[in-house]
Amino acid sequence: MTLNSTTYASRLDGADLFDLNVIKKYDKAGPRYTSYPTAPMFHAGIGADDYAATLKRVAGDDAPLSLYIHIPFCNTVCYYCGCNKIVTKQYHRAEPYLELLLQEIDKVADSLQDANGEACKRPVTQLHFGGGTPTFMNNDQMRTIMDKLRHRFHFVAKDEGEFSIEIDPRECDEDTVRVLEEIGLNRMSMGVQDFDPIVQKAVNRIQSKAETLRVLNEARQHGFESMNIDLMYGLPHQTVDTFNATLDTIIEFSPDRIALFNYAHLPHMFMPQRRIDEAALPSPQEKLNILEHSINKLLDAGYVFIGMDHFAKPDDELTIAQREGKLYRNFQGYSTQADCDLIGLGITSIGYVGGGFFQNRKEMDAYAEAVQAGKFPVFRGYILSNEDHLRRQVIMRLMCDFALDYRQFERDYNIVFRQHFADGLADLQEMQADKLVELRHDGLTVLPAGRLLIRNIAMVFDAYLQKKKEGSNFSKVI
Ligand SMILES: C[S@@+](CC[C@H](N)C(=O)[O-])C[C@H]1O[C@@H](n2cnc3c(N)ncnc32)[C@H](O)[C@@H]1O
Ligand code: SF4
Repeated sequence: MTLNSTTYASRLDGADLFDLNVIKKYDKAGPRYTSYPTAPMFHAGIGADDYAATLKRVAGDDAPLSLYIHIPFCNTVCYYCGCNKIVTKQYHRAEPYLELLLQEIDKVADSLQDANGEACKRPVTQLHFGGGTPTFMNNDQMRTIMDKLRHRFHFVAKDEGEFSIEIDPRECDEDTVRVLEEIGLNRMSMGVQDFDPIVQKAVNRIQSKAETLRVLNEARQHGFESMNIDLMYGLPHQTVDTFNATLDTIIEFSPDRIALFNYAHLPHMFMPQRRIDEAALPSPQEKLNILEHSINKLLDAGYVFIGMDHFAKPDDELTIAQREGKLYRNFQGYSTQADCDLIGLGITSIGYVGGGFFQNRKEMDAYAEAVQAGKFPVFRGYILSNEDHLRRQVIMRLMCDFALDYRQFERDYNIVFRQHFADGLADLQEMQADKLVELRHDGLTVLPAGRLLIRNIAMVFDAYLQKKKEGSNFSKVI
């Protein structure tokens, strides 16, 4: 059984959800589970040869394909940023990168050909341009990438797939929106974070409401659906009052989806974050106040809490998919597209192909050297065991449905769930006592107060965390 959004919305207000003692008790570092096993488990024992063999093995499958293209460049640095990016104002750097991408696309497509040299027939139902700032590429360069992809892969019709791009509204004029539509994109996600001028200055991201609204409107006029806006809480100088004003504006803009990320402050991992004045960061209590206020305000405005930072309108396809138990999770967050092979293209990108993860090199020189030598630029990965697949599915269904039906896993994996996961379920007893989760004989349901702490619940099914019992390079769950 999945609790539907109405149940959740009607029970969300009030002290139950924000039992501060419970939230504080469980507020520890944990993975976001955009993959299982998580990236720290990837290892250098998996490389280009494994990737080549895997592509060959899956080439003749019927299942759809998903493509991810990473464009790493950004014109300016936002100090909070934890993304894989290269900050430069030298737009000419896009050109050699484009050449490398085209070569990499050819190399993958060649490997997916059949013995007669026929192109792979697997339908591409999902495509995502991420970054960095994908529109660092100019319009002609974007056209060139899509022409190459369409030439080498079999895309389904535009209205049958999810073809998306991350947009920095400061780097996107109407001409660009028009070209993105022309080349077949139909989903857009925009970074905002916060409209308060003092916050914007402190994080070095000056972005006006007007330019944000302009891009949103232009995208709508050009047929983009399910428009998403990224916000972030926990940034320097934020208070409930200042963030309330940002929320007012966003609710007025009325995007279909809102991602409300918890600022992950990990300056030992992300250099630009060292430029953030830690004394100006909101206290843990103020962060919780901002989160509580934001959730109540977004629900009051009619949004549904999808889970893990994401909100959507009741008629958005994400909400509908969740209601129908057809929601999935991948490196880009929640998706309506079924779990399928994902081909990562570009520096740092991660693919999931034939039951394994494969990650490309993170340094431009090493990436370029491999691609120019005609090799896959894969430097690490992970091949999932049967046990990993089982746990991956358990964590995926928890994150998407907020419930588990043990019988489904017993059928699919030939296990007795309560025996197999005896340790994890024992760990959940305490969460049951704290009213985060309801445990039954044949399944479990995450209660409203547990939804914000879904990472903690997922963590008990993570075999590797259970072994290590730590997660220092992960951000706090709240
Ligand atoms: C690649 S960026 C979005 C596209 C574009 N580069 C932009 O900034 O508009 C992806 C999103 O990750 C989120 N993000 C970046 N750094 C983060 C951090 N340290 N903690 C939490 N979320 C973060 C931001 O909300 C950001 O919009
Ligand atoms: S948030 Fe976006 S624009 Fe800012 S540095 Fe990160 S990737 Fe670049």
